[in-house]
Amino acid sequence: MDRPRKYITTPIYYVNDEPHIGHAYTTTLCDIWARMMRACGEDVFFLTGTDEHGQKVEQSAAARDMSPRELADRNSTAFRSTMDLFELTYDDFIRTTDPEHERQVQAFIEKLLARGDIYVGTFEGWYDEGQEEYHTETSARDLSFASPVSGKPLVRATEENYYFRLSAYQERLEQLLANRPDMVRPAARRNEVLGRLRDGLQDVPISRTNFSWGIPMPGDPNHVIYVWIDALFNYATALGLGEEHSERWDARHEYWPATYHIIGKEILWFHAVIWPAILLALELPVPHCVYAHSFWISEGQKMSKSLGNFIDLNTIRAYIDRYSIGALRYFLATQGPLGATDADFVTAKFHDVYTSDLVNTVGNSTSRVTAMIGKYFDGALPSEESNGSRMVIDSLDWPARCEKAVAEAIAEMEQFNLDRSIEASMSLIREVDLFINTTEPFKLAKDPERRDELAAILYQCLEALRIASLLLACVLPQKTAEFSAAIGAPTEGTLQELAAWGGLSPGSPVTKVALFPRVELAAMSS
Ligand code: MSP
Repeated sequence: MDRPRKYITTPIYYVNDEPHIGHAYTTTLCDIWARMMRACGEDVFFLTGTDEHGQKVEQSAAARDMSPRELADRNSTAFRSTMDLFELTYDDFIRTTDPEHERQVQAFIEKLLARGDIYVGTFEGWYDEGQEEYHTETSARDLSFASPVSGKPLVRATEENYYFRLSAYQERLEQLLANRPDMVRPAARRNEVLGRLRDGLQDVPISRTNFSWGIPMPGDPNHVIYVWIDALFNYATALGLGEEHSERWDARHEYWPATYHIIGKEILWFHAVIWPAILLALELPVPHCVYAHSFWISEGQKMSKSLGNFIDLNTIRAYIDRYSIGALRYFLATQGPLGATDADFVTAKFHDVYTSDLVNTVGNSTSRVTAMIGKYFDGALPSEESNGSRMVIDSLDWPARCEKAVAEAIAEMEQFNLDRSIEASMSLIREVDLFINTTEPFKLAKDPERRDELAAILYQCLEALRIASLLLACVLPQKTAEFSAAIGAPTEGTLQELAAWGGLSPGSPVTKVALFPRVELAAMSS
């Protein structure tokens, strides 16, 4: 039987920017989700990549005396190696300059032209040159006729353009959002979209004539396709949807529709309105969920070029060197702006979370339990049985407790509640600590008559930690692999199979671990 298919995507990143914590954040969230879903036996396709066309790329390349392609090649490679540094397990890295992408975008546009969903018209509006985006009269006025991003004045511009008939999809989009409350998340973002939809939809210009670095409009090469339209199609072209029965289509089309498009909140409109409308026009299914997280700010301030406070690659490297890649992933996933509010990236907070959760909780319990097995049982895992049956201590039903944590962690992850999924594992670990504190194995060790009890406690602690670490493997892949090897945990099977109680075999060797060393607090900016 075919395994269930899931498709998760990040935005494709502009090649005229340097990779920073924001890009690492979105991609890491997707990676954590993809790793857990794969561990659960699901067939996951995880897509990321770079957005390479448009006026800004053409201009930055010219300023550097390079061709746009050279700039795109260089910076796309930089993005890709950043992802490799973070051990992000994407299945494909798409570039909008890939010929397969360009060909399919043209095919989609031809289809939309033939259906009358794209037409030629004249447009006059307020243009944000930096963002390559038009604003309506109302929204330009709300913005005081200045770019919300760069602050530069919007300019009045007139163009003969190709238009996408967005206005024709108003009702269907409203119905879609009403029938599928989870299509846009979190709820605050959904309300934002519903509010803007009520203002009414206007057709959108989808071609440009004032520069040439883009995909030519089919049959009219004086126009290039607007970079946002080109970019949105990446989610479909990566699966070959624009070329039925091609090799790529054969291998990948069944991943569509996307389970999650994970994006930042600033690009919600394109993903929650324009993209679904284009898909409706093409009679393709719309994504299950567009999830728009909020923003990282840095030490209390918005990250910006002018302030020079971007958490850039050098700073990120410094965190990884000092605290480990796992620590960075853990911080991003548990303290990040997954919900409707922004989150502050503060060194002192990073340090506190590392110390309390990873050193004092995960690190401490794993080293405590493996050390006691070393000390009291010569490093051979004892059994939890006495006279042929499992001992229940302090009426704690460990198998049931673990089963609950596993079910919760998986269910929350499926819903993209990464923080809650991680909390389910962390609370299991805290319970192990509590169990040690109340049963006091170090005292029992002095009483030879209570050896069976001591053995059962240590087996149960290690088994519960093994299960918690399986659940945390998506966040802390290296550290949990180290732990699993040190305790001789089985590795073949799905997460659910591996997480069944009793995976560890009594008698097998257990080595003491020290997963997260204590670290001194230090200034981290580069
Ligand atoms: N190229 C477009 C996206 C096209 S998708 C069809 C683009 N690229 S971008 O390089 O500017 O990347 C934007 C994305 O980077 C955001 O949507 C978000 O995922 C991530 N982030 C950028 N800055 C961020 C923060 N400060 N905080 C969190 N994530 C942010 O827009």
